[in-house]
Amino acid sequence: MNPVSDLIKNLADQHGRSRHNLLPILQGVVEQEKYLSEFSMTEIARELDLPAAEVYGTATFYSFLEHKKMGRYIIRICKTITCSMKGKNQVLLAIEDMLKINVGETTPDGTFSLLQTNCLGFCHKAPAMLINNEVFTDLTPEKVRDILSTYMKKKGASYDN
Ligand code: FES
Repeated sequence: MNPVSDLIKNLADQHGRSRHNLLPILQGVVEQEKYLSEFSMTEIARELDLPAAEVYGTATFYSFLEHKKMGRYIIRICKTITCSMKGKNQVLLAIEDMLKINVGETTPDGTFSLLQTNCLGFCHKAPAMLINNEVFTDLTPEKVRDILSTYMKKKGASYDN
C-alpha cells in the first residue's frame, strides 16, 4: 500500500471517520508530508466517505494547509468520465485561453492556479469545477468566461493582450 494511504488510514483510525474529524486528519497529513497533494485529498475523501469537493473546500479554506505555492483562486476542473463526456475539454480550453496558462500553472500575478481533479460528486450537473470552495456546474465555454470575468473584476486583474 502507498505510504500516504497508510498514513491517512492511521490518522482516520486515530481521529475517527466523521466529517468533524476532517481537519485534524488534513493537519496530520501536512505535518508528515509537508504538503497536501491531490492524491492525499482524494484518499482522505475515500477513507472518510466524503465528497472530494468537501475535502478540497476545507483544505482551501484553511490556507495554511497548502504548502505548495498556489494562486489566490484555485480552479479545479473535474476530469472524470461524465464531465469529460459532457464537454469538459472545451471548458478547459476556454479557461486556458482566457488566463493564458495551462493545467498545473499559476498566472504570473498569482491570482489563478489551474488544476484538474477527480470526480467532485456533481456528475448530474457535469461539467463541474471548483474555485476555492465554490462549486460551479453545467459549465459551457461561455459560462466559464463569465465566471472568470467576475473573479477578475474582484481582483481588478486583466488578461487581455
Ligand atoms: Fe465530474 Fe463527477 S464526473 S463531477
